[in-house]
Amino acid sequence: MTDRWLGALEERLRDPATDRADLCRDTLLELACPTYAGRWAEAVADEALPMGTRLALAALDPRHVTLEPEYYGDCDQPRFQRVKPLLWLWYSFDRLPIGGQAVGLGVRLRRALAPHIFRSVGRNFKCFQHVEFSFGYNLEVGDDVVVHRHVLLDDRGGIRLGHRVSISDYANIYSHTHSIVEQVDVTNAQTVLADDVRVTYHATVLAGVHVGANGMVGAMAVATKDVRPYHVNVGIPAKSVRVKPNAPAGAEDRLRTATDRGTAGS
Ligand SMILES: CC(C)(COP(=O)(O)OP(=O)(O)OC[C@H]1O[C@@H](n2cnc3c(N)ncnc32)[C@H](O)[C@@H]1OP(=O)(O)O)[C@@H](O)C(=O)NCCC(=O)NCCS
Repeated sequence: MTDRWLGALEERLRDPATDRADLCRDTLLELACPTYAGRWAEAVADEALPMGTRLALAALDPRHVTLEPEYYGDCDQPRFQRVKPLLWLWYSFDRLPIGGQAVGLGVRLRRALAPHIFRSVGRNFKCFQHVEFSFGYNLEVGDDVVVHRHVLLDDRGGIRLGHRVSISDYANIYSHTHSIVEQVDVTNAQTVLADDVRVTYHATVLAGVHVGANGMVGAMAVATKDVRPYHVNVGIPAKSVRVKPNAPAGAEDRLRTATDRGTAGS
């Protein structure tokens, strides 16, 4: 049953003629309110139904909700409107009984949606529940990347995740910042986690930081500056406390290399 359901969804995603807002609405309607499947518009207009029911039904259609990035001055509206229905499907699925903690189906659904939202995504992407993005379209993801629960991937200025990157529960990766004087003065800067990086529980990586290959950001740390390859940085602000024992000779002093600045997964 799961294979058939996902297969049909993937087929509609691949079809350039698909209206993504309709796809999102129909999918959520079937999963959340099957009683109204196939007669959404009539139900929303039906004055005999409780107002709350009609509002809840209306909110299944992304055209009836606004997402936070739509309020950002630097949002590329045409690009965002293209991915918004799929983000709304992603987020809303996570809040349904069939979604959220039902890990198996959720991971497969997110893997199906990701190529249609992100700038790029590699093989075997594994994403757990309640992960949020800013734009979604400014995210590059390598192969075998794992993103755990309740992670925020703020890709306003772009985020690049190399191969085998792991981001643990409740971590935040930012790529925009605000002037300390003028709140509305936003600076975007691409944030890069190179191959084999691990950002661990509740850690935060600030905009523009490059975590070098095999680097690690410890639990609760705030990485305000670049993390050198193979270094383990902890604390606020995060500082190197050790170099991984598998580091090649010279890793102790090596600043980020050209490799860390290459394309996703390089
Ligand atoms: C970063 C981490 C891996 C470091 O582990 P470690 O290499 O075994 O380091 P140690 O425990 O020997 O700690 C070295 C020093 O850093 C301190 N330290 C370790 N982790 C710290 C953290 N998250 N924040 C602040 N200080 C930390 C230790 O207290 C120790 O300080 P000391 O030398 O003054 O006693 C670990 O602390 C951590 O944050 N783990 C998160 C859990 C994890 O691995 N998650 C991944 C799941 S996908």
